[in-house]
Amino acid sequence: MRAIVQERYGPPVEVLRLKEIDRPTPGPEEVLVRVRASSVNTPDWIAVTGVPYALRLQVGRLPSNVVRGSDVAGTVEALGAGVTDLAVGDAVFGSLWTSRFVTAGTFAEFVVAPAAQLAPIPSGVAFEEAAASVMSGVTALCAMRDTVKIRNGIKVLVNGASGGVGTFAVQLAAHFGAEVTGVCGPGNVEMVRGLGARHVIDYTSSDFTQGSERYDVILDNVLNHPPRRTARALAPGGVLIPNSVGNSGGLLAGLGRMAGAKLLGMTRRADVRFSPSEAARENLTAIGELLASGEIKAVIDRAYPLEETPEAVAHMFGHHARGNIVITVD
Ligand SMILES: NC(=O)c1ccc[n+]([C@@H]2O[C@H](COP(=O)([O-])OP(=O)(O)OC[C@H]3O[C@@H](n4cnc5c(N)ncnc54)[C@H](OP(=O)(O)O)[C@@H]3O)[C@@H](O)[C@H]2O)c1
Repeated sequence: MRAIVQERYGPPVEVLRLKEIDRPTPGPEEVLVRVRASSVNTPDWIAVTGVPYALRLQVGRLPSNVVRGSDVAGTVEALGAGVTDLAVGDAVFGSLWTSRFVTAGTFAEFVVAPAAQLAPIPSGVAFEEAAASVMSGVTALCAMRDTVKIRNGIKVLVNGASGGVGTFAVQLAAHFGAEVTGVCGPGNVEMVRGLGARHVIDYTSSDFTQGSERYDVILDNVLNHPPRRTARALAPGGVLIPNSVGNSGGLLAGLGRMAGAKLLGMTRRADVRFSPSEAARENLTAIGELLASGEIKAVIDRAYPLEETPEAVAHMFGHHARGNIVITVD
């Protein structure tokens, strides 16, 4: 099968290449998925670039023919022993993400996935939309539904409202009844408003941490301000959800600010809650239903064919994609 493989760390266009490798075989409780679409997320470029370097120490020597990518949408091609809740031909989506950073990835024509990590794609939802909604959509869902319970009328600010996670977070917060403020660059103001944000702040002309408005919830997908300063924009009892590993200022700055946010929470200067992104079947099902009913949509910046995956990962690395970046497989 055709797959995008990586044999060393470095810039995506230098270290990723298209290669013929063996098609994997599903083991017990697994299925073989014919990949129709995948999407690119932050962990993918971290895994490709190998930055921060601590990652390389954790992984050790990179095995040959590592296939990257964790989000998948496709059809079930074959069933491993013991799989009874999926059938050959089913359209499914899900995530293979593990924090080990070396997995059988989805930037390929076929991938083996644990059946329990896949959910059916509802009819009417395209493979590209489903793939774009896995890590980004489920992260936003966990933040807006579980980490905080959004109620009617509460004020939610989403920093990084035009990115993969942000475009879902704006729509979900509005769907749950919040008055949403989105923060993004000048080229995305109208798009973010169209997703349901009542107010939009262009970060090049205004700094929300310096304004007089106060918010009940701040989802920070960028961490471009020190968390202590961001927390000043919280209303009394408000919640800060830091959710970034460095969209501006580099990975180390981002990790430093995540640590700063943790400290802020521990010293009780603000209510800081970290949000998981659990691509469990019930979360995927919830996202699928919202997509199918038209309550939310996946914003797709661009769909790249499999052979252009290196360019797609490089595009993600720029941190100015409009919504999500998708890979399609014929
Ligand atoms: N908790 C989890 O499990 C989980 C899961 C997925 C992702 N994440 C994290 O969530 C973060 C966001 O992911 P994503 O996929 O949404 O990333 P993304 O698509 O790259 O997000 C880009 C967003 O950041 C904004 N931005 C870029 N540079 C900026 C700057 N200098 N100042 C202010 N805003 C800036 C962009 O605005 P414009 O383009 O409009 O300029 C856009 O809204 C990542 O750091 C990722 O690590 C966490």
